[in-house]
Amino acid sequence: MAIDAAHPVPPNLPRQVGLDQIPPHVPKELVRQSGLTTGAEFLANPHDFMAAMHEKYPPIFYDVGEYINAWQLIRHEDALFALRHPEIFSNEGATPFPRDPDDYFYFIPIEIDPPHHRKYRNIVDPLFCPAGVKQLEGLIRQRARDLIDEIADKGECEFTTDFGRPLPVSVFLDIMGLPQDMRDTFVSWAVDLLHAKDRATMGRAFKNITDYIKSAIAEKKAKPDGGVVSLIANAAPDGVPLSDKEVFGFVVFLFIGGLDTVFATLNNIWLWLAQNPDRVQEIIDRPDDIDAVVEELLRRWSVTFSGRVLAQDYEMRGVQMKKGDRITCVLPACNFDPSVFPNPKEVDFDRPRKTILAFTVGVHSCMGGHLARLELKIALQEWLKRIPRFSVRPGTHIEYRPGGVVGPEFLPLVW
Ligand code: HEM
Repeated sequence: MAIDAAHPVPPNLPRQVGLDQIPPHVPKELVRQSGLTTGAEFLANPHDFMAAMHEKYPPIFYDVGEYINAWQLIRHEDALFALRHPEIFSNEGATPFPRDPDDYFYFIPIEIDPPHHRKYRNIVDPLFCPAGVKQLEGLIRQRARDLIDEIADKGECEFTTDFGRPLPVSVFLDIMGLPQDMRDTFVSWAVDLLHAKDRATMGRAFKNITDYIKSAIAEKKAKPDGGVVSLIANAAPDGVPLSDKEVFGFVVFLFIGGLDTVFATLNNIWLWLAQNPDRVQEIIDRPDDIDAVVEELLRRWSVTFSGRVLAQDYEMRGVQMKKGDRITCVLPACNFDPSVFPNPKEVDFDRPRKTILAFTVGVHSCMGGHLARLELKIALQEWLKRIPRFSVRPGTHIEYRPGGVVGPEFLPLVW
């Protein structure tokens, strides 16, 4: 039965974890403990690990993880099918982010299946569609230039803190209609919420974010403007205003979905650029191909996953999955599927155009995809104009932390 987002209740889904919680229908020969997102081999080089999955694992296998057991789909074709069939592969209860069961809310729109899902996307799609984000182009360019101005003459920077985080956060504040003086506070909340090593710090960050978002919503209700928070706070699809929990769950999910993903994407790509000066020159020499460059870099360095829950029993490639089983589309692995992207680890700006899965496909395809593409394009153009030659500071050890968004934690650069 479809969930009622105005009256949320915690999902009643068993959460299987560990070797002793493998359901009986899972064949032993398909069970693995891959260490995806948490193991030492993964953390040593996550993208190499995910590219190699096609040689090491069956196309569909049951992964016994540190936090959750789930079927993993690594083939492009299988993920496309799952993501395009929400009636079989549901989003209800599929988001692992914990919440207070006594004050439960859904993350909107990610946890809502069709047909209700569309009503939420309709509210903000005018701002996130290509024409909507195009209006932000001048502002994004100015924000990127301002950040680069602060570091260009220094000959060095810590990319993450000096550019990779503040750029997406300031753009996020612009589109949300929130004040720029919150930029550094938002960066620190996002880092504490998504990367802290202890639960107390995460909890404090979530409380700060919650308090801030609630007061911003109240303010936008009293004084509407053209930003995303205001649109959501004052939305009344079919004449029915959204409930407080819907408004909150929508705004808070944007914070969770729209920041860390961009931080990680920029960090991965700048690490590769810093290690490949000849490819930097190629990008500089092909200004008219910037859109193809962005697309290929997003394929090669995709950062996150799509989790789903089986809404019915379903057989795929002869593998019997059952209602209630969890699955993960390992999007970066799908983007390395050699049957779709030959020589997949090679960055090739002239690849024939194929559907990339960095932003997922189907009803839940990333709402911020056009914004993220534009940010990446502008970041590349503006950075390479001012800092065309740069490398990783000698002696740096690149570190990845466990989690569902994959990218280097810090990236010290010199030029
Ligand atoms: C490079 C940056 C980004 C990447 C790689 C990314 C990736 C993704 C992916 C893979 C999904 C689908 C998740 C699933 O199927 O379970 C998604 C959904 C979503 N993303 Fe992004 N994202 C990025 C940037 C953004 C930004 C900037 C925003 C907003 C400011 C945003 C907002 C959302 C929202 C609201 C959804 C849920 C869409 C729905 O359920 O209909 N994302 N994103």
